[in-house]
Amino acid sequence: MSTSSAPNGTVVLAYSGGLDTSALIPWLKEKYGYDVIACLVDLGRVKDIPAIMERAKASGAIDAVAIDAKDEFAEHYCLPALMANALYEDKYPLSTAIGRPLIARKLVETAHKYGATAVAHGATGKGNDQVRIDVGVRAQDPSLTIIAPARAADWPSREELLDYVAAHDIPTALTKKNPYSVDENLWGRSNECGVLEDPWVAPPEDAFQFVVSAKDAPDQPQHVIVSFEKGKPVALDGKTMGLVELIEEIDAIGNAHGFGRVDMIENRLVGIKSREVYEVAGSLALIIAHRELEDLVLTRDLIHFKRSIESKLADMVYEGQWFDPLTEACKAFLFESQERVSGDIRLKFFKGSCVADGRQSDFSLYSYKLATYTTEDEFTHEAAAGFIQLWGLPIEIWARIGKEHHMMKELED
Ligand code: ARG
Repeated sequence: MSTSSAPNGTVVLAYSGGLDTSALIPWLKEKYGYDVIACLVDLGRVKDIPAIMERAKASGAIDAVAIDAKDEFAEHYCLPALMANALYEDKYPLSTAIGRPLIARKLVETAHKYGATAVAHGATGKGNDQVRIDVGVRAQDPSLTIIAPARAADWPSREELLDYVAAHDIPTALTKKNPYSVDENLWGRSNECGVLEDPWVAPPEDAFQFVVSAKDAPDQPQHVIVSFEKGKPVALDGKTMGLVELIEEIDAIGNAHGFGRVDMIENRLVGIKSREVYEVAGSLALIIAHRELEDLVLTRDLIHFKRSIESKLADMVYEGQWFDPLTEACKAFLFESQERVSGDIRLKFFKGSCVADGRQSDFSLYSYKLATYTTEDEFTHEAAAGFIQLWGLPIEIWARIGKEHHMMKELED
């Protein structure tokens, strides 16, 4: 239980160790009257957790906790997103978005553990993340107070914030020279602000941290075989591994080959367009492989119908509706659809691209004897004529009636 002496008790803050959330520790105490427990939810790619914990305490947190949620994130968030081949507006694999509901869940768990009555985060008033975290927290425990100082009127500008942290002796690595706002986890890295706010300006090299420039990528392609079992990637080049490790490995391969940079204008939930740059080699490569396998083993109707569920799930994730029962229903459909999505996809990475150039599965619906134009052909060609006659019947009748109508009009005139 909390041993807080602050007027309003204890708040659990979603903490990253960056500029904003570091400033929030004294801010929550001074302006809101709370003692702060800093909570770092590790969804992958967090470097030097002990140093971040130290920074939280040096910034005035009464306690700092780090939660390793990588496996849970991979299994219960990234995997359903992969099964949905989820891309917001056909481009963004939702790396930031899919992490937020889990962060919300961990904040609430931590609040309960420490007897805190509030949770706080550093999301601003014009982003999507505030929606995802707030709705996620309310879905778990509506009695908790949610404090989001970065959307309050008195929240300082970035320049003022730097002065504020300096005045509070907060140790942060951020300087005025770092113009970007970054979020990263196992499923990808998002970057906005600075020069990226001009959509005409090409992203400078320093906007990217993982994916090398395609011109610096190796001159030789690299092939990787991704094996799936029931929609889940389980091995790379025959080597079985856990999902976290597998995502990290394929991400590293894509990064080295200059694959996985996305530069896009996206429609935020709050009504504005924003320009964002993503590094999503691992998630995009897995989506390419997964979709390719589905093309081999699922029926046409299932593939076509599944697209509507995929795009619905992508929107639900983007728009903070992870805990809506419709998300559960979409997931149930997705899991059901993956029963035969087992097999191997060979990916080829080369100079900024990633394509599938080989596929095999015990459940393959591809039939050589039906597809071939050689003497081995077993397709019933004679059946085609009758099939076409019936298939086109409604169109034929429509055209015939139209013609008769036209002729009658001509006679009348
Ligand atoms: N625009 C993306 C989304 O809404 C990413 C936002 C992440 N924040 C950032 N500071 N880059 O999911």
